[in-house]
Amino acid sequence: MKMRAAVLEEFGQPLAVQELDLAEPRAGEVLVRLVACGVCHTDMYSASGVDPSGYAPTVLGHEGAGVVEATGEGVTGLAPGDHVVTLFSPQCRECVHCVSDRTNLCLAIRDEQGKGHLPDGTTRLSRDGEPIRHFMGTSTFAEYTVMPEIALAKVSPEAPLDRACLFACGLSTGLGAAINTARVEPGSTCVVFGAGMVGLGAVAGARLQGAERIVCVDLSPERLALARGQGATDLLEGGPNVVAEILEMTGGFGADYTFEATGLVAVMRQAVEAARMGWGLCTVAGVAGKGETLDVVPRLLITGRRIAGSSFGGCKGRDQVPEFVERYLAGDIDVDAFMSHRLPLDEVNRGFELMEAQDGIRSVLTLSEA
Ligand SMILES: NC(=O)c1ccc[n+]([C@@H]2O[C@H](COP(=O)([O-])OP(=O)(O)OC[C@H]3O[C@@H](n4cnc5c(N)ncnc54)[C@H](O)[C@@H]3O)[C@@H](O)[C@H]2O)c1
Ligand SMILES: [Zn+2]
Ligand SMILES: [Zn+2]
Repeated sequence: MKMRAAVLEEFGQPLAVQELDLAEPRAGEVLVRLVACGVCHTDMYSASGVDPSGYAPTVLGHEGAGVVEATGEGVTGLAPGDHVVTLFSPQCRECVHCVSDRTNLCLAIRDEQGKGHLPDGTTRLSRDGEPIRHFMGTSTFAEYTVMPEIALAKVSPEAPLDRACLFACGLSTGLGAAINTARVEPGSTCVVFGAGMVGLGAVAGARLQGAERIVCVDLSPERLALARGQGATDLLEGGPNVVAEILEMTGGFGADYTFEATGLVAVMRQAVEAARMGWGLCTVAGVAGKGETLDVVPRLLITGRRIAGSSFGGCKGRDQVPEFVERYLAGDIDVDAFMSHRLPLDEVNRGFELMEAQDGIRSVLTLSEA
């Protein structure tokens, strides 16, 4: 079939919206009509060419939501009409990691996905017979996508898809960092560094877990105001003195749980230093630049602080994204506050500009009629 998509032709250049060919789903694959897709830093990072594992041409986009149109042979868990959220982090439910409750890093399709292929090593995207690679296994800056069944979460049809798509990446990452990785305990004190989509999700996750005190740290007053809306009890301006301020607020000890959601290694270090001696757990969600390292004084670890990393918030996507969407429908998670701009596919580059200007939290592309 023919469809329109935003193609990264060359690094550092604007995406080019154009018509491409999309082949039918093969065994284990699903054709999804996309309705909405968030524009995320990872898309812009890949488009910039800074990412050493990046490639072009490819169709970017990974925060998609839509409706199943058709299924390939052997697909049993999804049927036409189902509403789905795309997962760059799949869940096969069979690999050694999927059957463990200690990690969400499914091993089933990692290698081929990293090369821009679907699991069978080929692509469904092409242009004049020339294959075009998939991005993060999703390629959702498009009217349609073909993806493996194991990378689609079936969500309630009650949820508007332009809200549901935000659970495809940053929001679930933040929620899951607090709920799965840190397993925040009721009554505890949390500090969240960064009030972008991931940090705000962590604030919401800490609130859902029953944290008593949630301190949010950012440089932007507008973003800190949003953190208040997600349940932050205290707001701090980031900077060199922030660790001392947090220690002072916590009787000299630090917080039970800290979260880093900026991608800056200097802030990661602050998040470690702001964790409580004895049992403080620092969860790192931000993605640092290539080659950067985290500098930590080992004594902080000897005296009981721990550091954990969290990819996609430790979420097993097919199980947990539908649960998060239910909690949103029940009124527990305010998703509307994250939707800052709506744009048509043709204005995808404007989405990148808004992100660079830190104008709002998320721009959401409207890809077809809900
Ligand atoms: N682990 C994962 O699976 C995963 C998934 C999505 C995103 N990420 C990463 O998480 C990070 C956050 O993503 P986002 O979309 O929320 O980004 P964002 O840029 O929207 O938010 C980052 C926030 O950090 C704030 N900040 C900058 N310097 C600061 C400082 N010194 N102190 C406190 N706050 C400061 C900024 O003002 C901004 O509000 C990025 O590194 C992103 O790549 C990780
Ligand atoms: Zn993302
Ligand atoms: Zn798996």
